Amino acid sequence: MYPLGDVVALRLGPKPACLVNGPEPLRQVLISDAARYDKGFQFDQLRGLIGDGVGTSGGAKHRRQRRLMRPAFDHEHVEGYVAVMARCAAQIVADWRQAPRIDAGREMRRLAMTAITRAMFEAADDEPGGDGSGSAAVDEVLASLPILLGGVGRRALLPLAVLNKAPTPGNLRFDRACAGLHAMADRMIADHRSRQVSAAHRTASDGPSLLSTLLAAVDDEEGGGMTDAQAHDEIMTVLLAGTETSAGTLAWTLHVLSRDLDLQRAVQRETAAVLAGRTPTAADLSTLPLTRRVVSEVLRYYPPSWILGRRPIQDVQIAGVPVPAGTQVLLNFYGLHHDPAAYPEPDRFDPDRWLDPDPEAIRGHYLPFGLGPHACVGEGFAWSLILTTVSTIASHYTVKPAPGSVVKPVARTTLHPGVVPLVLEPLT
Ligand code: HEM
Repeated sequence: MYPLGDVVALRLGPKPACLVNGPEPLRQVLISDAARYDKGFQFDQLRGLIGDGVGTSGGAKHRRQRRLMRPAFDHEHVEGYVAVMARCAAQIVADWRQAPRIDAGREMRRLAMTAITRAMFEAADDEPGGDGSGSAAVDEVLASLPILLGGVGRRALLPLAVLNKAPTPGNLRFDRACAGLHAMADRMIADHRSRQVSAAHRTASDGPSLLSTLLAAVDDEEGGGMTDAQAHDEIMTVLLAGTETSAGTLAWTLHVLSRDLDLQRAVQRETAAVLAGRTPTAADLSTLPLTRRVVSEVLRYYPPSWILGRRPIQDVQIAGVPVPAGTQVLLNFYGLHHDPAAYPEPDRFDPDRWLDPDPEAIRGHYLPFGLGPHACVGEGFAWSLILTTVSTIASHYTVKPAPGSVVKPVARTTLHPGVVPLVLEPLT
């Protein structure tokens, strides 16, 4: 049994809840009994705001959406997005020439939102912005997505939905941000359909946009493809699921490198040897073992999805403990990643624990991308984006903590570092 107990009863305001700990109970909820759960109360609200994409749907609808999403996130297509990611990383290091001091939390959010939006809407060989529609989408996402993300968590916890309808400045701003993103998604779908940019006309090595691959996908089991309405909901889902998680991981990575200059120099030596000043390609990303270990350890130490929710749709038992239908179940991923049974000195940041990890010891104890039918569809995308960005930054700058700055984890929907003030020293 896990030190805290496998299942710990809690209350979330008026709602009955329980915290689930340890690899076996998590496996039971996420895999063996997955069909007995939905995503829980936060997603009830979310569905009304962003639609019913792959992150919120369940059952047969979810399985079909996953099949239709798969090609856009397969290895070959993700390799095709690396050129777009590298352009975004190059742009951000160029912008920093004017700004010797940055908030890495904010900058990595800007980078993640820009890169995910561009990969979604622009083919690799488009000029940045192309005909301007991709750039307009980036502007809309940068202006509106932070407002949506900020409001979603708060709204999910508000007991009275009616409060969200009151015409307060905050609610009006939130409604405008939501409407702006929905209109942008509709415009991009209409634009792709009218240009008939389809994966059928291009090979993955040409780097088609993620949306063009989604629109061209055919369900290999039931036939048919994605409707425009469904593609709309998937655009919103990818924006919500991919940006904060990737931005947080990147900001934490810069934070740990800024606090350990020896480690940072070693990462800089590795990137200099592989890239020699060029922008990274997909092939380069498999030749950065130290950088990869640092990111693996960041994902263990500061898992963005530190806790995930589920809700049983019927009475269930978890590790033998009866849990009534409707209980909010909180799955403790943070605890798994800091369990001394799997990680000696779990609160020490040590990338070298990934040099030769014991697969038996960490089995079920390392789940930054989740587990089971809802596990992250964007894992390969996230790795490519993070390695492309970290290696580009390490080729151009040494990052140091701004004097007197203190960085503290902020545990909300994701575990992120909030403000990360850094001083940049250009490499000559
Ligand atoms: C370091 C970055 C990331 C982390 C740690 C992460 C983690 C996760 C986790 C734990 C889940 C499972 C949620 C659950 O079971 O309730 C998930 C789902 C998902 N992620 Fe990621 N993610 C990351 C980046 C991305 C990116 C870059 C994309 C897309 C570009 C993406 C798209 C999605 C989608 C669409 C889902 C829903 C899948 C489903 O429900 O079938 N993620 N992610």
